[in-house]
Amino acid sequence: MLSVVVLISGTGSNLLALLKAADHPLYPVRILAVGSDRAAEGLAHADLYGVPSFVVERGRFSDVETWSAKLQETIEHFNPDLVVLAGFMRILPPSFVSRFSPNLINIHPSLLPLFPGAHAVRDALAAGARETGVTIHVVDKGVDTGPVIAQRTVTVMPADDQASLHERIKFQEHELLVETVLSIAEKRTELVGR
Ligand code: GRF
Repeated sequence: MLSVVVLISGTGSNLLALLKAADHPLYPVRILAVGSDRAAEGLAHADLYGVPSFVVERGRFSDVETWSAKLQETIEHFNPDLVVLAGFMRILPPSFVSRFSPNLINIHPSLLPLFPGAHAVRDALAAGARETGVTIHVVDKGVDTGPVIAQRTVTVMPADDQASLHERIKFQEHELLVETVLSIAEKRTELVGR
């Protein structure tokens, strides 16, 4: 059984996909807790599945290091095998990354190394990309630069706007996240840092 803590900041649709999968007795993953940096909408999914949740708000701490130390300590309390960033919208400092990586993965809505950063879907559209997609990668000390574990392509349609494209990307994200975490649990995917 692979034990996981998931961090979110928003709607938590990826979290929900993982909670649903983990609810199945044959899926060898246990979600120990869900954390956030704010009162995120998606925390309601954790409640629904009886999974504990916690919030460590950035605004309550004077600097990034004290905030991330508190986040780290809270995660350590659960002692997970893996930490999944599923729409966690804050950059984590090197001290946090060193503590958990390579057992720290992120899901990103583009085919990295194309379109890193917080506006990947908008940037792909603005660049006139004909295809974009999803990447799951190990988190390293850069922003969206860590070793790629899995990718899936999504075709950009001429009529797409940011919302329609992101919706189709998220559909692929949900499947890819569930598959990838399964593959990590079954040791078919080995997590390595750099
Ligand atoms: C996803 O597109 C993910 O790739 C990005 O943030 C979004 C989170 O969506 N990092 P949700 O909160 O899982 O619905």
